[in-house]
Amino acid sequence: PLTRATTVPALQAVVTSFRKDGARIAFVPTMGALHEGHLALVRHAKTRADKVVVSIFVNPLQFGPTEDLARYPRNEAGDIALLQGVGCDLVYLPTVDVLYPDDFVSRIELKGPALGLETDFRPQFFSGVATVVMKLFNQVRPDLAVFGEKDFQQLSVVRAMVRDFDLGLEIVPYPTMREADGLALSSRNAYLSADERAVAPKLHAALETVRSVVQAAGDTEAAIARAKADLTAAGFGQIDYIALRDAETLGEVRAGKPRRLLAALWLGKTRLIDNIAV
Ligand code: PAJ
Repeated sequence: PLTRATTVPALQAVVTSFRKDGARIAFVPTMGALHEGHLALVRHAKTRADKVVVSIFVNPLQFGPTEDLARYPRNEAGDIALLQGVGCDLVYLPTVDVLYPDDFVSRIELKGPALGLETDFRPQFFSGVATVVMKLFNQVRPDLAVFGEKDFQQLSVVRAMVRDFDLGLEIVPYPTMREADGLALSSRNAYLSADERAVAPKLHAALETVRSVVQAAGDTEAAIARAKADLTAAGFGQIDYIALRDAETLGEVRAGKPRRLLAALWLGKTRLIDNIAV
């Protein structure tokens, strides 16, 4: 049975009851509008722990003043039904007042993997993510937490924070779930018109084309420039970045080390992000 909690004491009462049975607890933080990508994380969490806690909280701290906080998709009843279907044990639905009372004054700030890429376009983003994830970790106190590779820079930032602050939980990555045509699942795909939805998979295809050039020891910069030109011709708007980075540090690529190709760009009024291993 799926239990619901909306306050910290209610959450902790249930987590404590799980712990009494010696259960290993996994945590999956989300902003709701759940899709198969989120559900895959929950199913994977079930294989790694006895109890799975999912949070649904649209975190105002990680949205910029001109971003989509007010229109971010919300579907609490639908989300709860989906979570019931995948065997989630506890859903935590805090309100903004619970996470950020009026006297809330602290922020987590990171350098390293938080520098560049998303931060160049959403300067408040990782501070907002790290702050809410730190709070949620401290409230839930899980043994492990599952994060999607879809948000690859976020995964790197959370790992760095856990290491730096000795949080003592395991961060478990999960591969990006995609539509059959390659489009990465995202709550924001709901914003796409039918025409935009038809064009959107070209992002993943373009990343794969760059990857094959890089893997054939071709010219990375030329391949990225060609991908940008093709995406613009296909109808995409501003391309925030397409960049090949070291998969571990997200800095400059290092010889013989795994690399990641990351991208963010606009399609109409929707910002899409994606990434692949190279
Ligand atoms: P949200 O965008 O709801 O994503 C919640 C989790 O689902 C993240 O770990 C994300 O990487 C993962 N996810 C999203 N789409 C996915 C896909 N197609 N395949 C696999 N995993 C996917 O990320 C956030 O929320 C927030 O920043 C949060 C961490 C909850 C902090 O507010």
